[in-house]
Amino acid sequence: MPLILDGVPAAHLARRWAVPQVAALRLVASTLDTAHELGASGAAHGTTVIAEEQTAGRGRDGRHWHSPVGGVWLSMLVRSPHADLRMVSLRAGLVVADALDELLGSPRARLKWPNDVLIDDRKIAGVLSEGRWQGNMLQWLAVGIGINVWNDIPPQLAHRAVSLREFLPDIRRLDVLDRLVPGITAIGASAPHLSESESRAFAERDWLRGRVLRAPVAGRASGIRGDGALLVESGGAITPVLDGHVDI
Ligand code: BTN
Repeated sequence: MPLILDGVPAAHLARRWAVPQVAALRLVASTLDTAHELGASGAAHGTTVIAEEQTAGRGRDGRHWHSPVGGVWLSMLVRSPHADLRMVSLRAGLVVADALDELLGSPRARLKWPNDVLIDDRKIAGVLSEGRWQGNMLQWLAVGIGINVWNDIPPQLAHRAVSLREFLPDIRRLDVLDRLVPGITAIGASAPHLSESESRAFAERDWLRGRVLRAPVAGRASGIRGDGALLVESGGAITPVLDGHVDI
């Protein structure tokens, strides 16, 4: 039986989103794996993989990503020889936040560096991008995005995770995807540093700014730099941090 997403046959999605191919799957280990498989077989930039359910969804820092029916579990192939994993992920977070704000009708989505998306202090979406290189030549990136849309949140996570359904009871995944996919497709071609408007957009949503951090460096979060580094202030000195896990 062909997959139907919120009333739209999967076969119509590629044209709807102006991408070369959409692989819409019922059940998969991780859409990131499928995106890498498609990447290895030569699939084009913008190739999109979505799944109803993932059995082995992965999150940042080696964590499991709970992916039951009702969420957007998407991975997109980005082919751009100069794409930078960190910047692509950061921009993906901005695209997700924009999409959510548009649906919510107000600027509620916040970004926790590098690319967690939060509403009312609870995580609603995350981004995990993975690259495949041949020598030092980037072959492709797979940008993985998970958004809790109308999926249940396990009770043990309810204090720190939320689904969009809590704010928009009739929300459909297609409403989110229609805003998300075209925005993500455009990312690969972006400049190596954040533009002024991207920096402003991040600053307006910066959830960490002013908070005291224990890690990746002890100090107070003081915004981000154009190359995506988190700035941490301590004793009057600013330390830029390009990678790492934030602990408050
Ligand atoms: C995070 O830890 O915040 C990142 C979560 C990324 C989850 C998405 S769901 C689609 C794609 N497939 C995966 O296995 N992970 C990403």
